[in-house]
Amino acid sequence: MALQIQKQVWKTCKPIFSVLQKKPCTAEAVAENRNFFTFLSRKSSTLKEDRSNKVHLEDKVAVVTGGASGIGYAVANELLKEDVSGTSSVTVIDNNKEKLQESVRHLGEEHGEDRILPIEADVSNIEQMDAAFRNTVLHYHTIDIIINNAGILDDGKWEQELKINTHGCVIGTLLGMQYMARSSSGSGGIIVNVGSLAGLTPWCGFPIYTMTQFGVVGFTKALGSGRLYERTGVKVFGYCPCLTKTAMLENLAEKSINDNFAAEFVEDTGNMKVQRPEIVAKGLVGTLHEAKPGSIWVAMEDKEPFEVSMSEMLKKAGQSVDQATR
Ligand SMILES: NC(=O)c1ccc[n+]([C@@H]2O[C@H](COP(=O)([O-])OP(=O)(O)OC[C@H]3O[C@@H](n4cnc5c(N)ncnc54)[C@H](O)[C@@H]3O)[C@@H](O)[C@H]2O)c1
Repeated sequence: MALQIQKQVWKTCKPIFSVLQKKPCTAEAVAENRNFFTFLSRKSSTLKEDRSNKVHLEDKVAVVTGGASGIGYAVANELLKEDVSGTSSVTVIDNNKEKLQESVRHLGEEHGEDRILPIEADVSNIEQMDAAFRNTVLHYHTIDIIINNAGILDDGKWEQELKINTHGCVIGTLLGMQYMARSSSGSGGIIVNVGSLAGLTPWCGFPIYTMTQFGVVGFTKALGSGRLYERTGVKVFGYCPCLTKTAMLENLAEKSINDNFAAEFVEDTGNMKVQRPEIVAKGLVGTLHEAKPGSIWVAMEDKEPFEVSMSEMLKKAGQSVDQATR
């Protein structure tokens, strides 16, 4: 299959979120941008919910970051199954060119080449991500669902880890708003930020990864709890898997700060069942329907995902503080 990795980098001009704007805009770029968003507002379709809160995913277009392997690949595969969601097309974004080529070949054989758009991009790079979103709109005319999934677990490379896990999530979310919000030129949509159980209860063996995941959960809750959904029609929620059998869990000793931290991680998680990415993906796609804005869902040990209530968690945290200070 001829793999077309889009290389064209578009300028990010006049975004609705000014924090995304890095470079001054030329008049030409502003005009080009206006034309682009007019095109988007004419073409984009509305994501409708029926009375039972079931979102109609048929003929929708999804973007999955980190989709070349692990959980992201499984999510792209699940979305493309016609009997499951009926999503018409998926853009798979990943910064690993070889893995991207291979995974897209598999997905193409299974579901049809024209339903998958592979884009090589780094989630922590605004220009590359903006180009990826624009190319998706030019290719499929709309974006309806974004799964911000790309992430790494490597406290040894903590600066890169902070950037990919937190900047990547912020960039994917803000661009998602720009391309899907009713207040911009879109018609609403869904953004899923894939965090981790480590964003709700610390993994002491990986404190820096834990910090990034608390960030993802906090950011997602802050966006979902306010009035953003009313203004934009974009539902943002979080999905936090526990241990899942992917490349992320390989060579953990090399990825921790030192051997003591590595040993602590094994102690903390040693009796947890490692789940399968396909089950995590199935749970995520199912949750697209019922999740409320700002809700946080946990997927663990191959079971059905469940929503965590923050008030319950705060109550428990309060009780532990009480006990500790008694
Ligand atoms: N595997 C687990 O046990 C586990 C547990 C909890 C949460 N998670 C979360 O699930 C998500 C997916 O993890 P996974 O286990 O599938 O990992 P994985 O390593 O199997 O897949 C991650 C994918 O993201 C890509 N990627 C990494 N950095 C990128 C970047 N800068 N730009 C674009 N793509 C990039 C990789 O090339 C890879 O294809 C992560 O956000 C992770 O934090 C995983």
